[in-house]
Amino acid sequence: MHDRNGDDGQDPKEKINYRATFRLLLGFILPERRGFAAAFVWLLFSTAFNLLTPIIAKHIFDKAIPSGDTSLLALSAAALFFNSVLFLVTNYFLRMRLVKTGQQIMTDLKKRMLAHMLALDLPFYAEYPVGRLTARVQADTTTLYELFTETTVNIFRDILMFAVTFGIMFYFSPKLTLLLCAAFPVVLVISSIFLRKSSTLFVTVRKLASEITGFLTEHVNAAGLLQAFNRERMTEARLEDINKRKFDTELKAEMMMIVFFMSIIMISPVSIAMILGVGGAWVAEGTLTVGTLVMFILYIDKLFEPVFSVSEHVSIIQRSFAAGHRIQKILERKPAITDPPQPRFLHGIKEGLEFRNVWMRYADDAQWVLKDISFTLPKGRSLAIVGETGGGKTTVTNLLFKFYVPNKGKILIDNTDLAEIGLNSLRTSIGLVQQDIYLFPGTIMQNLKLMDDSIPDAMVHDAIRTVGLEAFFKKHGLNKHITDKGANLSAGEKQVIALARAMVLNQEVLVFDEATSHIDPYTERLINAAMQRLLKQKTMIIIAHRLSTIRNADQILLVSEGEIKEKGTHEELLERGGTYSRFYKLQFGEGAK
Ligand SMILES: Nc1ncnc2c1ncn2[C@@H]1O[C@H](COP(=O)(O)OP(=O)(O)O)[C@@H](O)[C@H]1O
Ligand SMILES: [Mg+2]
Repeated sequence: MHDRNGDDGQDPKEKINYRATFRLLLGFILPERRGFAAAFVWLLFSTAFNLLTPIIAKHIFDKAIPSGDTSLLALSAAALFFNSVLFLVTNYFLRMRLVKTGQQIMTDLKKRMLAHMLALDLPFYAEYPVGRLTARVQADTTTLYELFTETTVNIFRDILMFAVTFGIMFYFSPKLTLLLCAAFPVVLVISSIFLRKSSTLFVTVRKLASEITGFLTEHVNAAGLLQAFNRERMTEARLEDINKRKFDTELKAEMMMIVFFMSIIMISPVSIAMILGVGGAWVAEGTLTVGTLVMFILYIDKLFEPVFSVSEHVSIIQRSFAAGHRIQKILERKPAITDPPQPRFLHGIKEGLEFRNVWMRYADDAQWVLKDISFTLPKGRSLAIVGETGGGKTTVTNLLFKFYVPNKGKILIDNTDLAEIGLNSLRTSIGLVQQDIYLFPGTIMQNLKLMDDSIPDAMVHDAIRTVGLEAFFKKHGLNKHITDKGANLSAGEKQVIALARAMVLNQEVLVFDEATSHIDPYTERLINAAMQRLLKQKTMIIIAHRLSTIRNADQILLVSEGEIKEKGTHEELLERGGTYSRFYKLQFGEGAK
């Protein structure tokens, strides 16, 4: 069939795995089968009441009016009224039930997606940018919501409505019914043509709409930068261009829809004219009753509505399968790094950690990023890594956290290969403070607990005292609210909070990856003081450009082009007069010690 699945980023040539997707969708429906069953019961009632109206009308015209019995007439009219009320009531319960069931499915789906995505590894996130991923999950779940709340039930309603209406009409006048059937092919063709054309346009509209959102997000985020470079006008012009394209396409699509609906609306008067013209003649002949004629007119929309909806249902089902397929693809993606069958559990670290002849590259055809790296870090000691940007420092931490697996060599904790250690216990034991600090919207207190309310406040206060940051957190009260991404804090303040956060989680090993890169001298002093205290208590790996931060480390590695070029204490390295000492003199001037 025609392609209307070209929504966000699906390769049009990509084959949808209908079986797997069907199984996925079924997997969401089955747990909610009670809800769906209840909906179907309401559906039966509401459809019955809906279809009863024309029959009551026929009764009024053929029996009540000719009989001249006013009480029968009043009774019939009352029946007609209450029938409509009952239709509305049952329809209300049907909708409510569907919305509830649909929402339940969506909640479950999003929960499952989130849990799944959070377990996926960094290579996955390198492939799917977060913005696109969230937009996609949002759009796809909405499509499925439509499927579960509307389409599934509407298809049954339409089949039911069409079959029963056709049956009743045919029963009372086969001739007139067959005459109306002549319109079916016209209706089917019109609706499928329009839907095909307009849906292609609407896909384009959706794409342009997400392009606009993306553009706005990017540029509003960079408002300061754009202003500084005087780029506001240019940005406006570029936005104007996308906006105009969206406007034109959307207008075209909407115009098409209007024409479509007008042709749908025309079907009704055409058929009514036909019924009245042909049927009226038969009434005059005496082969048809007036009541049947009225009944036909009242049934006409109920007969055509399901036929019109066929194309729409097909389209929603196709889109749902495309959406389901994309969700299925994410859900079936296994994290590249998983626990071994029987993972070893780290109960704290007793001896220390070791890199033994570790080689690493990010792709098979890429250059080696780490070449034969070996070092040991005994418990309670500290290791500093310095070196040029791109030298491989962060890669060392990536391997330690098992975000990636080394190509050759081993990483050992307490003489156990990292490969055998469960991810959970590994990452509970080591903590990371990065250069880019992510803070969640919430209070400072909540952020220090990493949103885990089970951590008692006392633990937070204790951690703050341990690192000597009482004064800082007096100034920035723990109840202070952090806005999105910590925009109301300076880079240095965020670093301090991240450091305290690592303390609260009370991890054995702390890794600082350029945590002091962007900060002012005052905060640097604050963090350095905290670090000096930490050095006495924790096992630490410190990656830093500022040599003031690391001079007290027990061991310093100078890493360049993936190799350890120099190794020793601050004094030893200065003594050697190599790269490190040159580096140090550059920062602190000749004669510095
Ligand atoms: N996820 C990645 N995928 C591919 N290459 C990477 C990735 N991360 C880092 N690299 C490359 O590995 C090299 C070392 O990077 P990194 O360890 O981050 O250096 P440093 O932290 O010392 O600045 C760089 O050349 C970088 O481009
Ligand atoms: Mg780095």
